[in-house]
Amino acid sequence: MKIETDYLILGSGIAGLTVAIKLAEQFPDRKILIVTKSNADESNTKYAQGGIAVVIDGIDDDFEKHINDTLICGDGLCNREVVEMVVKKGPKRLKELIDWGTNFDLTAEGNLDLAKEGGHSNHRVVHHKDQTGREIERAILTKTHQKKNIEILDFHFAIDLITKSNSCFGAFVLDEKNDTIIPVYSRFTILATGGIGQVYKQTTNPLIATGDGIAMAIRANATIKEMEFIQFHPTALYMPKSTSTFLISEAVRGFGAYLKTKKGRRFLFDYDVRGELASRDIVSRSIETELKKSKDKCVYLDCTHLDILAFKNHFPTIYQNCLLSGIDITKDWIPVIPTQHYLCGGILVDANGQTSIENLFACGECSQTGLHGANRLASNSLLEALVYANQIFEFLKKLDVKKIIVEKPVPDYFPSKKILDKKIIAKIKKDLQNCMQQNAGIIRNDTDLKKALEQLLIWKKQCQEMEHEYKVTKEFLELKNMITVSIPIVAFSLKRNENKGSFFKEGKTINLQF
Ligand code: FAD
Ligand code: SIN
Repeated sequence: MKIETDYLILGSGIAGLTVAIKLAEQFPDRKILIVTKSNADESNTKYAQGGIAVVIDGIDDDFEKHINDTLICGDGLCNREVVEMVVKKGPKRLKELIDWGTNFDLTAEGNLDLAKEGGHSNHRVVHHKDQTGREIERAILTKTHQKKNIEILDFHFAIDLITKSNSCFGAFVLDEKNDTIIPVYSRFTILATGGIGQVYKQTTNPLIATGDGIAMAIRANATIKEMEFIQFHPTALYMPKSTSTFLISEAVRGFGAYLKTKKGRRFLFDYDVRGELASRDIVSRSIETELKKSKDKCVYLDCTHLDILAFKNHFPTIYQNCLLSGIDITKDWIPVIPTQHYLCGGILVDANGQTSIENLFACGECSQTGLHGANRLASNSLLEALVYANQIFEFLKKLDVKKIIVEKPVPDYFPSKKILDKKIIAKIKKDLQNCMQQNAGIIRNDTDLKKALEQLLIWKKQCQEMEHEYKVTKEFLELKNMITVSIPIVAFSLKRNENKGSFFKEGKTINLQF
């Protein structure tokens, strides 16, 4: 079996679905195929809490302020042209999302309610309570289902890109339910496969975030950039007995919550004049430093002084989840720790979302656009995904699809029927997550990084051997991809000798820009 399509989109988060809807509306006679490895709505997008950063209030806020906040946060490594483009195009993209049926919270006067988050000099984060991502995913998935020329193949796992002479012609895909490998030939391919969170033991990301798109791009020899810039969110709920994590949105600090040590000291002003509202890299590193000093397991978010009714209205999910964990935020402080959250680097793209491979595009968290630099400003990720999905659409709109002659190689995956014991994969995966957590965390050093790289190369070799002996499964492919993306995270960290934004190596000097 084989599939042929005009546009192949890998991933059904905000980035992938946005491109799909726009192409479907522009070209009703062309075929758009979305391949996604889990339920169609499963994505990092679905878990986004805080919201989308967009300049709305023309009195207190303006583009220049949002641009400056983004540049300061990115610590000198943002591409200023990209930052200006994304910030200025934000309001139009937000309006489109609203036109597609996304509901955002309004004030009593009927204006968009604007929240504040770390690193922002103004209130500019539009949100749907503390479930912004869930609402966006609902609205755009509904819109996608209404388009007759979009087909979604859920539980289909993209294994590798089909490439020849630096051009991309689709992807080989594992149909998980029927256990077959299908070549999907396409004139244009868009990677929208999200982040890498699962390579860390503690992450806010769901299970799908195994870096597949970036790993595929690496195997296809696409250029990747700045993989060492891993963002750690300062405030995930501390749940020592649980394997999952739950995010306490940065908007909670924007709402006025204090970060305190166990003894009740608001320590952040020791590190940055912005205190609780410093950018995430600074807050996470400060917490890590405090915990090393005190030997405590976590720090605390104190919300007890806040307007509780207003809090419950803005953050109903956080309020309920805390209660389920035995924390009544009206009386108790919330125990929190920094946790892996976001990859600032990824597949290098130009302003049209083009990768270094012909006919291959990337947008969303798997891409490196130049917007985030060394550290992403809060709520700039959903914004980036919307703007770059549109950039790709605007570029593709002008291209003549008929000019693309698609090469059609057949898959040559080793046809073994031997099944690898799932326990072996699970064990290496767990060891990998521990290895990355311990050696490539918030504060790194060359000795640990070297140790980690040696171990990763051993696992890479083991995987290569297993790949020839056993049948290809989703679990195995995810493990292989996690190893593939961990290697540049560690190798680029070893190479980098200047501490910037979210990257910090012991023994190096840090250049604080605020
Ligand atoms: P995703 O939404 O992750 O979608 C990736 C898609 O690719 C999924 O459908 C996945 O199943 C699919 N996929 C992956 N690999 C394969 C494969 N091999 N084959 C087929 N399909 C595949 N950002 C903000 O701007 N504001 C926020 O408030 C905010 N809050 C956040 C809260 C949490 C808890 C988390 C985890 C992230 C948050 N972020 C936030 C970051 C933001 O949500 C993500 O960066 C963004 O949603 C990424 O969108 P995406 O479309 O690129 O990827
Ligand atoms: C949050 O709500 O704290 C997450 C925001 C983000 O990742 O930008």
